[in-house]
Amino acid sequence: MALLIRNGEIVTVGSRVQADVYAENETVTTIGKNLVVPPGTEIVDATGKLIFPGFIDPHVHIYLPFMATYAKDTHETASIAALIGGTTTYIEMCCPNRNDDALAGYQLWKSKASGNSACDYAFHMSVTKFVRETESQLREIVADGTSSFKIFLAYKNFFGVDDGEMYQTLALAGRLGVIVTAHCENAELVARLQEQLVAEGKTEPEWHEPSRPESVEAEGTGRFATFLENTGAAGYVVHLSCEKALNAALAAKQRGVRLSVEVVLPHLLLDKSFAERPGIEGMKYVMSPPLRAKYNNETLWSALALGFVDTVGTDHCPFDTDQKLLGKDSFVNIPNGIPGIEDRVNLLYTIGKRKRIGLDRFVDFASTRAAKLFGLFPRKGTIAVGSDADLVVFDTNYRGTVSVKTQHVNNDYNGFEGMTIEGRPSLVTVRGKVQARDGKFVGERGRGRFLKREPKHF
Ligand code: URP
Ligand code: ZN
Ligand code: ZN
Repeated sequence: MALLIRNGEIVTVGSRVQADVYAENETVTTIGKNLVVPPGTEIVDATGKLIFPGFIDPHVHIYLPFMATYAKDTHETASIAALIGGTTTYIEMCCPNRNDDALAGYQLWKSKASGNSACDYAFHMSVTKFVRETESQLREIVADGTSSFKIFLAYKNFFGVDDGEMYQTLALAGRLGVIVTAHCENAELVARLQEQLVAEGKTEPEWHEPSRPESVEAEGTGRFATFLENTGAAGYVVHLSCEKALNAALAAKQRGVRLSVEVVLPHLLLDKSFAERPGIEGMKYVMSPPLRAKYNNETLWSALALGFVDTVGTDHCPFDTDQKLLGKDSFVNIPNGIPGIEDRVNLLYTIGKRKRIGLDRFVDFASTRAAKLFGLFPRKGTIAVGSDADLVVFDTNYRGTVSVKTQHVNNDYNGFEGMTIEGRPSLVTVRGKVQARDGKFVGERGRGRFLKREPKHF
């Protein structure tokens, strides 16, 4: 059915305009004032509301075998939560481990999502080893429409690659025009520091941060950048958490390295005091890189405001309290991760407004920039004739509180519990179909499509 969203303020990067948006056959076909539309068109009045392009979360984990368990969401639960929060596209990390076959892993991840996601999705393909068949398998995966890779410099012997494997991955990516995303921590140092802390009897969750200090992340970030510099590939640091790592990334950008930077919601809004809470309360906040000393929050927000940071993702990765308790005897065994897919947009809008970050930056770091970096623009990430009709009608008068009691993510806690939000989506569409209204899913489960993307980083 055709859709008309009438009289909202359309916000895209570089433009704010009061107009109607008309969508037919899944795409935006007309933008203008007082549009006359065919009978039978579904009409939504957006007077007094903002209309954003569907938001994009460039870093989520849904199906994830990790640390002796599996992340809690399914593609159905995560995508419904995403849509209620205004995210209409997510890019999931496809993460077979070192012992798995990469191509079989890719097919497995695709089969998990296919027919189960309510919003559109793509994958970053993790390269967790580089062996004889890796190049031909990666070429096949790129030809299938997955044009971004992921490497982990952390998680030794599981997801982690060594420097030789990183070099081979980046060299191939450079030839294929593929961007490589990277988790930047020094795996060897983390393993040694964990060993040392545990030997000293320091096993509570508060010791997770000292086992992966800022210098360990800065080293990983700098090393990744140096490898990019010497291979010519384009790279993207995921979940950068602190000033030291930011300085390493900015120094690389300054000398012309093709490097983009992502921060994630927890590192903007939370700090290490959360993980220092005793017992299970602290375990809920164990993630990698860890929550940092509080001053880093402001550093990351400033970098975001200035455009030094490109995107904000979530690293959505829900483990419930029973799973977190796998690490009750040692922080080393606490499954790393925290959910966020449902709350990212509302919290970024709310806190961004308090910090006087303009809507132009907001829409860029929460949607447009990810679309541009990952080969989705202008299909996604903007509102323009010919773009997919992924639209978020946003009610800036809504007032509410984040809570586990109202969340749709499949988890028994919310790391952002009690935070207030000043605005939320009143209507969310995926390719012209209304999928969420006022905090409720009202759409078609399984509507989401796998998004094929061309390499573009030549
Ligand atoms: O703690 C985290 N970040 N868990 C998910 C895996 C990863 O490193 O992104
Ligand atoms: Zn990571
Ligand atoms: Zn992640």
